[in-house]
Amino acid sequence: MLKLGVNIDHIATLREARYRGKMTGEPDPVALARVCEKAGAHGITAHLREDRRHIIDRDIFQLRAHITTRFNLEMGNTPEIIEIALKAKPDIVCLVPEHRQEITTEGGLDAVGAEASLRTTTRRLQDAGIEVSLFVDPDLQQLDAAKRIGAEFIELHTGAYAELFRSKRERNGELERLIGAAKHAHGIGLLVNAGHGLTLENLPLIHLVPHLVELNIGHSLVSRAIEVGLATSVKEFLQRLENYPG
Ligand code: PXP
Repeated sequence: MLKLGVNIDHIATLREARYRGKMTGEPDPVALARVCEKAGAHGITAHLREDRRHIIDRDIFQLRAHITTRFNLEMGNTPEIIEIALKAKPDIVCLVPEHRQEITTEGGLDAVGAEASLRTTTRRLQDAGIEVSLFVDPDLQQLDAAKRIGAEFIELHTGAYAELFRSKRERNGELERLIGAAKHAHGIGLLVNAGHGLTLENLPLIHLVPHLVELNIGHSLVSRAIEVGLATSVKEFLQRLENYPG
């Protein structure tokens, strides 16, 4: 079964648009994470950014206390955020590259270039009982580095596939890269997640990518929720994951 992790960052984006700095306000990402779980989501993902533009520290501790599925904390490899992760103890951390000026996570980690530092962080998190995933582009060298680093999971960046979806030739090229990367990662013993830019429309072709454990989906699912409600949106995305051949 292909699992759905719901990224709730943009619920917090809406709250921060009105209540920034007030430590309160609606909508409440923690209560709505519970709605996602009740609708069948298999996990909840939140990205604690250095600039706290959406999720704030308190959300992380509240999510840890209240969600009953799997809590995936996305974060940059920086000392301040590592300390928070070690205190909050999510089930899994997904290490991502982070740049202040970007609107969303733009590319995968340079696991090759930052191998030593990522290995240290991975060990620290694992020693605290937290699994580690590395968000990487579908690039075989990055996957080999993730294996050397000791991560249990990689999350394949599907952003390029999503962006090129309307051009059949380019989209198929990206799909081939994802398929090759998933096979390679599985072959060297990594568990494979994927995410970024996934929508109801571009999800069906993702079924061609083998060995996937979980997809992390945020923006499009939360956008759809404005139209149909959050529980219905979660159910629609879950339906698109059904019958994944594995
Ligand atoms: N996975 C990772 C590692 C991400 O950084 C993001 C964006 O925060 C997502 C998944 C979800 O992407 P989207 O919001 O485009 O569905």
